[in-house]
Amino acid sequence: MSNQNVTAENILSIRNLTVDFGGVRAVNNLSLTLKTGEMVALIGPNGAGKTTVFNLITNAIKPTSGEIMLSGRSILGVSPDRICRAGISRTFQNIRLFPQMTAYENVELGLHSHPQYSLAEAFIRTNRARSIEKESRKKALELLEMVNLQEHANAKASSLPYGLQRRLEIARAMAAAPKLLLLDEPAAGMNEDECNDLIELVRKIHIAMQFSIIVIEHHMAVVMDLCRDSRIYVLSLGSLLAVGTPLEIQNNEQVIKAYLGERKNG
Ligand SMILES: Nc1ncnc2c1ncn2[C@@H]1O[C@H](COP(=O)(O)OP(=O)(O)OP(=O)(O)O)[C@@H](O)[C@H]1O
Ligand SMILES: [Mg+2]
Repeated sequence: MSNQNVTAENILSIRNLTVDFGGVRAVNNLSLTLKTGEMVALIGPNGAGKTTVFNLITNAIKPTSGEIMLSGRSILGVSPDRICRAGISRTFQNIRLFPQMTAYENVELGLHSHPQYSLAEAFIRTNRARSIEKESRKKALELLEMVNLQEHANAKASSLPYGLQRRLEIARAMAAAPKLLLLDEPAAGMNEDECNDLIELVRKIHIAMQFSIIVIEHHMAVVMDLCRDSRIYVLSLGSLLAVGTPLEIQNNEQVIKAYLGERKNG
């Protein structure tokens, strides 16, 4: 097989990625590949560099060195806006919704990351603009339904309990119709029941939407379940400590020492 064929089936290839913030090397020579349709996890202690990896993939920050390819093409230097249009969407560790807007409006905004008609068309409300608007209303409601928020469509985002805001973040990220979805601690602050619901939700969208997914998470039960058929990448102090199946990671001495030992089953 030629090299080119190998990269073509990788939706994401990160090679030797490094970023320095002043004196701190937040990500050190990281390589990671994700095949189209796969779901993998990125775990590690606080400050390990996990969120920084998402910031690098979405080009919110620039690497010191290394390469990031989406479907075989370099995305270094591509604006975050164009990266979104190229098919990468994310949720944020610190929820980023428009708090005064409704759940529905937050998702609808996400849909408009791909403008389908011009401002002029919107202004004179052409038939085409009207039918696209109708379509996007339907789409936003479908996405809310997918994350089980249909009953909260008209609630202000800020009035929703924290766990539901996390679900709304996922719906907003899905609205951009990504190929690659990056979830930064989707289960943060959730209890065991909510974690189980979240596992079910992420599995459902993975299958139904055929997204490739990278999930950062500290809840090990969530990580081990979501990655039962794939693998987990463990970062520590910016470097890749281990890659493996849930069983391999749970039994890896270095990972236990650097991270899992402290967490028990958290
Ligand atoms: N924009 C920035 N400028 C300077 N330092 C940064 C910046 N972003 C992250 N860092 C530093 O890089 C390191 C990695 O941070 P990062 O947020 O990626 O960790 P993390 O693995 O996501 O941790 P957590 O589990 O707590 O979310 C930390 O030392 C952090 O302080
Ligand atoms: Mg983080």
